[in-house]
Amino acid sequence: MPGAIVITGASSGIGAGFARRYAARGHDVVLVARRADRLEALAEELRGLHRIDATVLAVDLTDPAAPAAIAAELAQRGIRPAGLVNSAGFGTASAFADEDAARVAAEVQVNVLALTLLTRELLPDLIAARGVLVNVSSNAGHQPLPGLAVYAATKAYVTSLTEAIWQETRGTGLTVLALCPGPTETEFFAVAGSETFKVGASKTVDDVLDEAFDALDSSDPSPVRTVGAANRVQGWVARVSPRRLRLFVAARAVGGS
Ligand SMILES: NC(=O)c1ccc[n+]([C@@H]2O[C@H](COP(=O)([O-])OP(=O)(O)OC[C@H]3O[C@@H](n4cnc5c(N)ncnc54)[C@H](OP(=O)(O)O)[C@@H]3O)[C@@H](O)[C@H]2O)c1
Repeated sequence: MPGAIVITGASSGIGAGFARRYAARGHDVVLVARRADRLEALAEELRGLHRIDATVLAVDLTDPAAPAAIAAELAQRGIRPAGLVNSAGFGTASAFADEDAARVAAEVQVNVLALTLLTRELLPDLIAARGVLVNVSSNAGHQPLPGLAVYAATKAYVTSLTEAIWQETRGTGLTVLALCPGPTETEFFAVAGSETFKVGASKTVDDVLDEAFDALDSSDPSPVRTVGAANRVQGWVARVSPRRLRLFVAARAVGGS
């Protein structure tokens, strides 16, 4: 039986999609997010459809103690994870000067610190299992985004961290991927409070997962997969453009100033 996959952000969108795909592949899953009712419903669905175990951990990742508590809970239940998908995350559409300080702190805590510390907690088990680490980053991490400054900065961090881990774990058998979707049809934009930065055609969760598993199943996966050809071109252009030009273009694209 393949090992268990821990998935944060499993109550919605891309995280729920990963849970469904991994369960369909015969993996036990550990579903992490705040909304316990959603997680319980998904767990029941997956247990019914596939002969797997689905464990629900209702956790608020803004709690600095959450990553260690998740690791301790897994150990206590005798679950040795073979995979970790860090999908929990959110953005805030706002000029930085107008941002609520508590929301900024929560965004950095969930997108950056919780992801980093949960990865650190579980990485020895993931390596031992020759398993998989997927950090859900974003196309937004390829360049700064005025109007979404904190979110884009958190995703630049996620991609950078994941690439370094990819290199550090070369030769261990662990598969490491920073997944960078562009706009995707989930609850993300409702939570962020605006759709103005939904640039270009949106993908479905299934589109994103098809690309993710195409990358993960390849014999020598790259550290980063940007979802969609147009997003790959845009990301490349942003990386090679002069700084002032890319900020000008990004500000206009997302409706920032
Ligand atoms: N949708 C897009 O256009 C897009 C594009 C690029 C990257 N992404 C990234 O994809 C990932 C998944 O987002 P999504 O599009 O699937 O959005 P979503 O439907 O809003 O899902 C976000 C998930 O994060 C969880 N979460 C948020 N705050 C949390 C907290 N404090 N503690 C625990 N869990 C928390 C939510 O669960 P609860 O609310 O139940 O806690 C939910 O399961 C995010 O990292 C996002 O940045 C999304």
